[in-house]
Amino acid sequence: MKINAFAVLEKGAELKPYSFDVESSTGYECIIKVLACGVCHSDLHIIDDDWGMSRYPAVVGHEVVGEIVELGEQIQHLKKGDRVGVGWQASSCLQCRDCLRGNENLCDENQGLIVAGYGGFADYLKVDSRFAFPIPAGIETQHAGPLLCAGITVYSALRSAGMSSGQEIGVIGVGGLGHLAVQFASKLGNRVTAFTTSQDKAEFATQLGAADAIVVPAGSSPPPPDRKFQILISTVPADLDWPAYVEYLDSDGTLTMVGVPSQPLNVPLFPLIMKRRRIMGSIIGGRAIMMDMLNVAEKYGVKPIVETFSMQQANEALQKVRANKVRYRAVLTAN
Ligand SMILES: NC(=O)c1ccc[n+]([C@@H]2O[C@H](COP(=O)([O-])OP(=O)(O)OC[C@H]3O[C@@H](n4cnc5c(N)ncnc54)[C@H](OP(=O)(O)O)[C@@H]3O)[C@@H](O)[C@H]2O)c1
Ligand SMILES: [Zn+2]
Ligand SMILES: [Zn+2]
Repeated sequence: MKINAFAVLEKGAELKPYSFDVESSTGYECIIKVLACGVCHSDLHIIDDDWGMSRYPAVVGHEVVGEIVELGEQIQHLKKGDRVGVGWQASSCLQCRDCLRGNENLCDENQGLIVAGYGGFADYLKVDSRFAFPIPAGIETQHAGPLLCAGITVYSALRSAGMSSGQEIGVIGVGGLGHLAVQFASKLGNRVTAFTTSQDKAEFATQLGAADAIVVPAGSSPPPPDRKFQILISTVPADLDWPAYVEYLDSDGTLTMVGVPSQPLNVPLFPLIMKRRRIMGSIIGGRAIMMDMLNVAEKYGVKPIVETFSMQQANEALQKVRANKVRYRAVLTAN
């Protein structure tokens, strides 16, 4: 069948209509009719080849929600018409120690949907059904997409950093990832402080569940801390004054990095050593925690705040993400 997509043909270019053919599904493959697709900042990193892994033509979009229209003969757990979501990860080996522990996201063979193949800025998507997740009935289609990358990334990073409840948690950046980190952490019973460059987001962060918001203009350092966090998560794709943020960590506190700044971290060791603080990184989440996250989102009312665009307006949506003008996640919807 023919898939009609939007692709960038070279680094940093605008999206153009782009069609390609796919064979019928066999084995665990399935074809999904795309209903909606979120726009993640990682789509921009891939368009711009910031990570040196992009292949062109690149069809981006990895917060895909759709309906199964065709299944390979091996698939037992899904049927035609099921509403499923696909995030950043397209496949893994399913056999290594990480995969067997449910950490498919850490597998050496893991493949990114928009790196290994074509993503969701398209009318249909062909994927490995073992990385397509049923969407709980209580989550609307346009809200499901952002949970599949932004949501799982912050939920998994916070859990891996030890999030339970009754903790002080800081969230740096209130974009697509950050506005969901504020919601997950606060709705699960933690006291959240948001750091943002945007005055309007500081005001809105409290409606999302933050107890406090601190405005830190772009290029500036945060004020000296008047509180300490067990966990601080950075969702910012820029280089910040990391030593100043480390000062916000309590003893044994963890700074977890999910945003991808361009430069290596430059942090003095004594503030880590003297307070047994940690800095960690985290990438998306495995399949089991993906299902947990979707259930938590449904039950605790974690709901992405979205600005919708038609698929044809994909360039406009990407420009708005670039300019940090989206409140809080752009989602492309099928016509
Ligand atoms: N680790 C993973 O598995 C994973 C998964 C998905 C995405 N990511 C990465 O996470 C990052 C964020 O993605 P996203 O989709 O949430 O992006 P986004 O919607 O563009 O949000 C990023 C936010 O960072 C803040 N920010 C941007 N530039 C800044 C600057 N120069 N100084 C200070 N703050 C700045 C802004 O928040 P305020 O307006 O509140 O200041 C902005 O809204 C990207 O690097 C993306 O690639 C990682
Ligand atoms: Zn993403
Ligand atoms: Zn593996």
